[in-house]
Order: sequence, then C-alpha cells, then structure tokens
Amino acid sequence: MLSGAKLRKRQRAGARVGTRGWESMNAHWWQTAVIYQIYPRSFQDGDGDGVGDLRGIMRRLPHLVELGVDALWLSPIFRSPMADFGYDVADYTAIDPLFGTLDDFDALAHAAHALGLKIILDLVPNHTSDQHPWFIESRASRDNPKRDWYIWRDGAADGGPPNNWQSDFGGSAWQRDDATGQYYYHAFLSAQPDLNWRKADVRAAIYDAMRFWMRRGVDGFRVDVIWHLIKDAEFRDNPPNPDFRPDRPSHEAVLPLYTTDRPEVHDIIKEMRAVTDEFPERLLIGEIYLPIERLMAYYGRDLDGLHLPFNFALISAPWNARGLATLIGEYEKALPPGGWPNWVLGNHDRPRITSRAGADQAGVAAMLLLTLRGTPTIYYGDEIGMEQVPIAREQVRDPLERNVPGIGVGRDGCRTPMQWEEAPNAGFSISDPWLPLDDAHPMRNVAVQREDKASIYNLYRRLIALRRAHRALNSGTYRSVAADGDLLLFIREYEHERMLVALNLGDEPAQVSFPGHPLTGRLVLSTFGDRTGEPLDGDVALRGNEGAIFALSGDSHVP
Ligand code: GLC
Repeated sequence: MLSGAKLRKRQRAGARVGTRGWESMNAHWWQTAVIYQIYPRSFQDGDGDGVGDLRGIMRRLPHLVELGVDALWLSPIFRSPMADFGYDVADYTAIDPLFGTLDDFDALAHAAHALGLKIILDLVPNHTSDQHPWFIESRASRDNPKRDWYIWRDGAADGGPPNNWQSDFGGSAWQRDDATGQYYYHAFLSAQPDLNWRKADVRAAIYDAMRFWMRRGVDGFRVDVIWHLIKDAEFRDNPPNPDFRPDRPSHEAVLPLYTTDRPEVHDIIKEMRAVTDEFPERLLIGEIYLPIERLMAYYGRDLDGLHLPFNFALISAPWNARGLATLIGEYEKALPPGGWPNWVLGNHDRPRITSRAGADQAGVAAMLLLTLRGTPTIYYGDEIGMEQVPIAREQVRDPLERNVPGIGVGRDGCRTPMQWEEAPNAGFSISDPWLPLDDAHPMRNVAVQREDKASIYNLYRRLIALRRAHRALNSGTYRSVAADGDLLLFIREYEHERMLVALNLGDEPAQVSFPGHPLTGRLVLSTFGDRTGEPLDGDVALRGNEGAIFALSGDSHVP
C-alpha cells in the first residue's frame, strides 16, 4: 500500500502506467475512456434549420450509450459569426443561437452526466473572431487599452506586411487595418485575429472562461492549435522550406519556425493546466500537428503540461503495415515516463479514415484504434464507416477550400451530416442539410447497421465493450511482435492476461507461425464478426482485410 502522501504525489504526476503497466493505481477516467468527437453542425438538427444543434445532440445521446463511448467532445458551440464555423469565437461564455441557449447546454451536460458520459468543450484561445468585443476595441485606436491584446505591427519600409509570415488559410498572415494604419497578425482567416498570449490580461480572460465552463460541469477541454499560442518576440522572418511542392498550400513555402512551437508556449500550457487542476479530474487535450519528438514536450517537464497532446500520427501515415508498425513503436518509445498515449484516426479537418484506408480496411482501422495502448478518439460517423463525400464547387462551405481551392485541402467532405436511418435526409434534419449527405445513406446508416451482425457499427460496439472488459486492452502494456508484409502484430498484457492483436492490412490471406513456440489460446473477435471462440493452436491465419484479437493461454510464448 502507498502512504496517503505518496499516493497523492503519484496522482498529481498522473498515474504511472508506462510500459510496465498499472502499478495498482486507479486510473484517471480519461485514461480508460473512449472519446467521441461531435461536429455539432452535422450531428443532429433539433429545430429544423438544416444545421445540427444542442437539442439534436441531446436527442442522440442514447446512440453514444449504445456505442459505448465515455466522453463526447463538441467542436465549438460558442457565439460566432461562423466565418470558420465556430473556430472564430465572438463570446467565450455564450452559446451561439444557431446551436441553442445556455439552458440547452446545461440540459445537455446534465443529461450526458446522468448517462455516465463526460463532456469536453473546444477551447479556441489562439484567436478570436474579428467581431469579438475585444478586437473591436483593439482595432479602434492605437492607444486603446485592448490594443495589445492582439498582435499589431507597423508595415515594412515599403508599406507591405511587417514580415513573411503566412496564413494557413492562404496569403500573408498580416492584415492592414485602415483605421490605424497598422497590420494585425492572423494565423488563419483575417476574420480570426490572433490574441497576444504574452499579455497577462489576455491569459486571465481565457482562464476565466475555462473556469466558467468547469463550474458548469464541463469535464475538460480540447484546446485548438495550442502550439500556435506564442510567436517570436522579435518577429523574425520564417525560413524558406526547401521541400516545398507547388501543389501544396502556399503557406508551406516557409517553415513555421518563428510562428509555432516556440519554447515559451510550455510556460503558458503549464498555467492552463494549473487552471484545469483547480477542478478535480478535468482533462486537458491539445491540438498539435508536430513530429513525434517535438510533440512529447507538450506533456510538460514534469507531466505538468497537457494530459493528452493529440497524437495525429495515424492521421497522416500511409496505410501500410510496416510503416504503421514503425510509427507506433517510435511513438511508444518517445513517450515521457508516465505520459499517457492517445490515438486519433480522423477529425473535422482531415479526410475520413474509410476513404484513406479504403472501405475494406475500415474494420482493421477500427480494431487498431481501439486496441492500441492509450486513449482513442473516434470521429462521429467513423463508427458506421462514413466516407469522404464529394463536394461540388457550388456546395463548398469551408473557408479553407474557398481561399485555397482545388488542391484537396477542403474539409467539407468529412463534415457531412450524420447518417442515422433510412428517412428523408437520413434522419438528420427535416430540412435540406447545410452540407450534402452521402448518396450511400439509405444503406450506410446507424439503423441499418444495427441489424447487421457483421456491420462496422457492431464491430465498433464490440471493440469498445471488449476494451472496457479487459484490463489488457484498456490499461495493459504494449509490445510489438515481429511480422512481415501486410501483417501488423502486437500484444497487450496486464498481469496474467495477454491478448494478441493481429491485423492484415492487405487483401490477400496471410499467415504467421512461430516455429518452436506454437501459440495457443482462442479468438475473441474478428473484424468480420465470425470465428469467435475458435481455438488458436499454432499458426495465426487471417483472411484478406481481417483483423483479429486472440486471448493467449498462459503457456504461449511469443518471441
Ligand atoms: C484548428 C481547427 C480547425 C480550424 C483552425 C483554426 O485547426 O481544428 O478546424 O479551422 O484550428 O481555428
């Protein structure tokens, strides 16, 4: 037994779970949880205007219970002119009328909690809307008290932008404002001016907004573009990118050396974490697109940073077994002691996994996500294998596609309405939805798949249930097992329980044997829904596009 003081110290540091497995600790809820991302505009319309809302989400909570997830993360629901569909906030403590009211939010949070579901909000602290009262004040005059809440600079000697910093959404990141003749910085749209995070008042204002929501019972935040918060104090030019390809967005022509991932950002995150820790068991997740070795710093020096720096390694990786095996190994190895892993297959900014890996691989992808060590996040609709929906030019809504058209960066295709049942608009809305539905919706929807034992939906449900039931899967160690070709093999282990996960990323049957060490056990779950209970006696054999989980018997020795 640990003494009270020691136990508290360990709890503060986050449960020590490393590759050695649990050390008789109770997990934080978010370590064994499965998180589900909802894009509120597209989940369920409750008031018939073609756009999803809070009452709609409330109506669909039973779906989340049936699926078996533990927490829902809502993309932004705050008051916003919707230039970037809510990622341009005009009031951090008000619900946008499109989504409902604060009462609707309280009702949703209450209903979610009553069902045992946690609720995570999207915090967008890097920038506000240009309609936020703070920015309206800031741009009013050079001596306005809120002037330095944003990043204002004089133009260069020739009158052009202050330096070469580029917007992720196309063109210079500097917008000249006629009222005062200076430029303000915006990493995204010009309607999304960046806040000045070096300013203590700015930090305090955002921290107060966090407290506002935590007092209302919110269980955590996913923090938008957190690696962007601090920019170079000297405003140095970004260096050219030697690997730039002209078919890529223009901002990639320079490397974001002075605009993102600055060392000082970690002090800010530590503060944000301290605010989170003012309330018990709240979760802090950060959106970060960085290589694995840079990502790890976001756990904080003493795990006092983010609980979960989002791990997007699987989002951009080519879908092949050898590459994925290497990447998983590198991520596991790079984790700081006690740092809890997490995995993501899709989100509202990236093409759907079913389209990236191929529909035949959707089950294998699901099995991978839900058997790796660490907290998985499921993007809404992936549980029914929703595909990327083609968007005609006149249907484009995404400001990124509008600004940087035709090179495949548009995000509308992964944000289309959830497909619930065979009904007008798939049961999403009684009106025309804001984005087109997938033509496949009469067949590919929750209601149809619920009745089909072999559906991807039922596979997700089984995987989540299995993960919950087995410590080996939700808390155990991870060990890779050598394999060739299209096979990806690993073992999850907790005390006497060992599970072998075998995934075939190709469409040909594949077999692996362990000469001298025949494996014994039984098959617990195949992605095809059959074979359950089949004995394992020697070789592991998979059909094309099959994944399988085997419970190994005690005497199996895996080299
Ligand atoms: C994040 C969001 C994305 C948004 C951008 C600017 O990357 O996920 O949807 O456009 O930040 O706020």
